[in-house]
Amino acid sequence: MPLSTLFANNGAWAAAQTRRDPQFFERLCAIQSPDYLWIGCADSRVPANEIVGLAPGELFVHRNVANVVSPDDVNCTAVLQYAIETLKIEHVIVCGHYGCGGVEAALGEGLHGPVQRWIQHVRDAASRHALELGRLQDHEARWRRLCELNVVHQVESVCHVAAVREAWQRGQPLMVHGWIYDLRDGLLRDLNATVSTAS
Ligand code: CO
Repeated sequence: MPLSTLFANNGAWAAAQTRRDPQFFERLCAIQSPDYLWIGCADSRVPANEIVGLAPGELFVHRNVANVVSPDDVNCTAVLQYAIETLKIEHVIVCGHYGCGGVEAALGEGLHGPVQRWIQHVRDAASRHALELGRLQDHEARWRRLCELNVVHQVESVCHVAAVREAWQRGQPLMVHGWIYDLRDGLLRDLNATVSTAS
């Protein structure tokens, strides 16, 4: 597909939005007040807004390989800080997905460079649950389970980020959730890892 197609698509999209709602762009320019921060995988098959049916302006989004949250990552922690302190979002959703290539990479060898360093965050989750993962017989089962465990691990990481701890200290309402998306049926599942106060 040539890049010109993307511009043509964009023109058609903007025209359709304006036809449906003449004030659409005007309203969006005036205010950004999403209720949710989505931290998801960069995977092209997991388009955040689309799978939860939210329009522009309704979901603040951060995506990276394997939906990792690290208190040392300035990019992700800046997103969290802005979302909490400025936008006052009340729900942080860490959403992983089955079939995640980043998570599978953490189960294997032979990586190098930035991906290798980044995936260490997922390996940390794998080491913490090595016993449970070791009991699973086949690669597919271990991979699926690590996709879930990685989400829970990243939810815990969110709870250690300064902006989150400070919000809870101030008594600002804020919940952190762990969800997983299944590429096979397009459905989300709540991993029941929600945290709503400082532990
Ligand atoms: Co992924």
